[in-house]
Amino acid sequence: MKGKQLAGEKAVEYIEDGMIVGLGTGSTAYYAIKKIGELVKSGFKIKCVSTSTSTTELATTLGIELVSLNDVESIDITIDGADEIDKNNNAIKGGGGALLFEKLVATASKKVIWVVDSSKMVTKLGDFLLPIEVIPFGAKHVYNTLEINGYQPKFRYTNEMLYKTDSNNYIIDVNISNVSNYLQLQEWLDSITGIVEHGLFLGSADMIVVGSEDSCDTLFV
Ligand code: A5P
Repeated sequence: MKGKQLAGEKAVEYIEDGMIVGLGTGSTAYYAIKKIGELVKSGFKIKCVSTSTSTTELATTLGIELVSLNDVESIDITIDGADEIDKNNNAIKGGGGALLFEKLVATASKKVIWVVDSSKMVTKLGDFLLPIEVIPFGAKHVYNTLEINGYQPKFRYTNEMLYKTDSNNYIIDVNISNVSNYLQLQEWLDSITGIVEHGLFLGSADMIVVGSEDSCDTLFV
């Protein structure tokens, strides 16, 4: 827990007064958002774009001004968590289900900082299941395609109900532990009708802040 806090808070040091900031989702982004709340209280004029309902709620509680992604030209800096990151700056995101908005916000950002504790840094992606967001209509057919191709898909459930994203889509989690060519996998997933987005973020980060019990490492990538 300490590593998440150290990483989240460290990344906030890169925010300057007047910036437009992308707010990630999850328990590490939480610490960054709390710190941004402190900046706002101290007088920083920051506008933020949220990546999920839960982040919107937190930011609102902290008095952070939120704007729509549609209303900004670009985002200066985005701070977000990740589920796994390999040494080539490939990441799996979406454990919290916010991958679609997270990818839109990251794509619109001039600088992207992933904040993680050291357990998220891996030599190879795939211990964590890759989340895939699919539209409900015909979702079983997408599931079947993933199954036939060996990805051991699982629909995500919450409280025994199919999990719904902020866009009312489903999530199918798949096993990519046998994959070594992530670019090829990305191209294939992008080609399947019914898949809205997936949690593979290849080379998206400009900086990765890795927190451990008592310190932080900042990797510039
Ligand atoms: C949200 O959908 C995810 O991409 C999170 O950013 C990711 O799951 C990391 O979450 P934690 O910081 O809670 O581990």
